[in-house]
Amino acid sequence: MHLKYMFKSLKMIMKKIKELTLLAVLSVWAVSSLSSFAQDKKVDPESIYARLGGQVAIDAAVDIFYKKVLADDSVNYFFEDISMKAQIRKQKEFLGAVFGGPVAWQGKNMREAHKNLDISEEEFAAIAGHLSSTLKDLKVASDLHDEIMTLVGSTKDDVLNREKTPAKE
Ligand code: HEM
Repeated sequence: MHLKYMFKSLKMIMKKIKELTLLAVLSVWAVSSLSSFAQDKKVDPESIYARLGGQVAIDAAVDIFYKKVLADDSVNYFFEDISMKAQIRKQKEFLGAVFGGPVAWQGKNMREAHKNLDISEEEFAAIAGHLSSTLKDLKVASDLHDEIMTLVGSTKDDVLNREKTPAKE
C-alpha cells in the first residue's frame, strides 16, 4: 500500500476510536446520572429540609456550627485528630438526610459513630447549644428551630452510647 493511503486509513481508524471513546464516556455518564436520580427520593415540601431552605441552607448552617464547636474549648478536643473537611461534609450529608432531603445517609449510625468517644451529657448539651445558636444566628423561625432541636435531642441516647430512655407517656 502506498504510504499516503496507509496514513489516511490510520487517521480514519484514530477518528473512529475517538468517536467510540466519546460514545462510551457519554453512555457511562447517562447511566450513572439516571441511576443516582432513581435513588434520590422526592422532598416533602413540609419537611424540615424544605422549610429550612434545602441543602444550601443546611450547608451554611453546618459551616457556622463547626466554627462555634471548634472555638469551644469544652468540646473542641474531640475533633483534634479528626479531618474537619470530612466531618463537615458528613454532617451536611447526615442532616440533609434526617431533615428529609433527597439523598439517604450512607454513613455510620449515631451509636456506632460515637461509641468510643465517651461523650458526657454536658458535652452533648454544648454541641446541641452550638447548633441552636447557629439556627438563631440564621434567623430560623422558632417553631422550626424547636423541631430541629427535638430531632437532634432524639439522637442523645445513641450519641452517649447509653440505654434508650423510655419514651414519655
Ligand atoms: C448532637 C448530635 C450529634 C449528631 C447529629 C452528630 C453527627 C455525627 C456524624 C454524622 C458523624 C459522622 C459519622 C460517620 O463517620 O459516618 C459524627 C462523628 C463524630 N462526632 Fe458527632 N454528632 C453529634 C454529637 C456529637 C457530640 C456531642 C460530640 C462530642 C462532644 C461529637 C463528636 C463527634 C466526633 C469526634 C466524630 C468523629 C468520629 C470519628 O470519625 O472517629 N458528636 N457525628
